[in-house]
Amino acid sequence: MGILDGKAVVITGGGRGLGEAYAMHAALAGASVVVNDNDGDLAERVAEHIRGYGGRAVSSNHTVADPSEAAKIVELCVDEFGRVDGLVNNAGLNYETAPWEDDPETIRNVVEVNVLGVIYTGIAAMRAMRATGGGSIVNISSGASFGQRKLATYSATKGAVASLSYSWALDLESENIRVNAVCPVAHTRMVWKSERSLRAIPADRTPGKVAPLVLFLLSDRAEGITGQVIRCNGRQLHLVGQPYFKQPILESDSWDTASVERAFTGVLQAHLEPYGLEKRMPPRLRALVEPPQTA
Ligand SMILES: NC(=O)c1ccc[n+]([C@@H]2O[C@H](COP(=O)([O-])OP(=O)(O)OC[C@H]3O[C@@H](n4cnc5c(N)ncnc54)[C@H](O)[C@@H]3O)[C@@H](O)[C@H]2O)c1
Repeated sequence: MGILDGKAVVITGGGRGLGEAYAMHAALAGASVVVNDNDGDLAERVAEHIRGYGGRAVSSNHTVADPSEAAKIVELCVDEFGRVDGLVNNAGLNYETAPWEDDPETIRNVVEVNVLGVIYTGIAAMRAMRATGGGSIVNISSGASFGQRKLATYSATKGAVASLSYSWALDLESENIRVNAVCPVAHTRMVWKSERSLRAIPADRTPGKVAPLVLFLLSDRAEGITGQVIRCNGRQLHLVGQPYFKQPILESDSWDTASVERAFTGVLQAHLEPYGLEKRMPPRLRALVEPPQTA
């Protein structure tokens, strides 16, 4: 008996890479699967593969970036399998560039797929899930949301996915729909396109090593787990801390620029934090921690 027996799930961007692994593993765990990818041949290849070993799968070539097409992905799941219990919002685009060289068309394309696509497909899925009493949504974010060089637009879209997940989790708890986000790391086409990622990610980090986390979150075994961002790089599995208002919280009836400056030369200075995935120290903090050497 598989942990997804009797469930119907939608995997967007399931034609290759991580999405293919989620689709294959979900089918092996007993789920009926809609394998979506705007590259329809790839989606059909994965669905055929699943059917080839006795699983249940259909393919969809719709784009997540259009609300009516995103709705059709979910409709296909309801038409074929009678319901939608799980959605993995995995379809995504990435590219590296210096921010000053970024161009509006590429930016728009990435935001449309990575943010709007997640919203459109998620909304369609939650409507179907509410009609049948609940479900689980797994949104795919990224450690890049912490901030990474030459990935600003991509990072911003993945930060948006984390924020969306917190908010949806709040809205949907009463509807018995859990919402979590996953930050995966694995060798895929996306990584092969980036020399830096290729160097940084060990070759044994395959998509199949992240899939068990996604399956767990889709399954009833994750009951009570919602509003979380979880990272798995195939070896490490951990939660990503929730954003919070940091102490000390200074209070005043009003703040003018002079009092703001005093706050930053005073108590707040020591509370500046290293930033970005690489934990880079802001120069002010560096000056405090590493005072200049005197001759
Ligand atoms: N590979 C990693 O280490 C890594 C790290 C962090 C986050 N992610 C995220 O994981 C997800 C999967 O990434 P991957 O590495 O497998 O990438 P990938 O490029 O191998 O696969 C992404 C798939 O999404 C599909 N897709 C793109 N636009 C689409 C659209 N509009 N509608 C439907 N499908 C669309 C593509 O055709 C492709 O098959 C992405 O959201 C990515 O941002 C990956």
